[in-house]
Amino acid sequence: MSLRVAILISGGGSNMVALARDMVGHHPARPCLVVSNVPGAGGLAKAETMGIPTACVDHRAFKGDRAAFEAALQKVLIAHTPGILCLAGFMRILTPDFVAGWEGQMLNIHPSLLPLYKGLNTHARAIEAGDAEAGCTVHEVTAALDDGPILGQARVPIQSDDTPEALAARILPLEHRLYPAVLRRFASGDRTKLKLS
Ligand code: GAR
Repeated sequence: MSLRVAILISGGGSNMVALARDMVGHHPARPCLVVSNVPGAGGLAKAETMGIPTACVDHRAFKGDRAAFEAALQKVLIAHTPGILCLAGFMRILTPDFVAGWEGQMLNIHPSLLPLYKGLNTHARAIEAGDAEAGCTVHEVTAALDDGPILGQARVPIQSDDTPEALAARILPLEHRLYPAVLRRFASGDRTKLKLS
């Protein structure tokens, strides 16, 4: 039987689409749910078109009560019995309690070469620092933000006239290659680091 994968999104869901498109045929996993904390997130409609069950848990309804938001999210997730959670542009910080419940089962993609540039505005920070390279990282989620064992990275050179937008546009297609490749390996029990270039 296939492993079931829930994908958590907040926005357009291009990484979600890349993951779901790869989970066909001879693949150890299948998508079981796409859930967003943002009503109307573009990725929800894309998931529906792909025939994947969707749900929304609007964090704003919980008025800053993070534990209550996570309890509602957990309830939706449990109802779909995933074995793996993929954060794919999910822009809420999850508490150590929530993360502990999914230890070893939750992946995230981050648009930097971790451990560099955790958090936001990664591309601008890489350019400002004068870095020669930027990229993206898929890692296991642990209690600390954008931390946890690195499962895969892809890198691109930073050009002298790069803008954050141009760099992001070059890295996003790499994200779409890296995340499915890492998930495929992870779902097969392979946690060695994948390097794409
Ligand atoms: C991606 O670039 C992803 O790496 C980033 O948000 C974008 C989501 O795009 N994630 C983070 O910044 C997480 N902190 P998508 O919704 O089109 O997949």
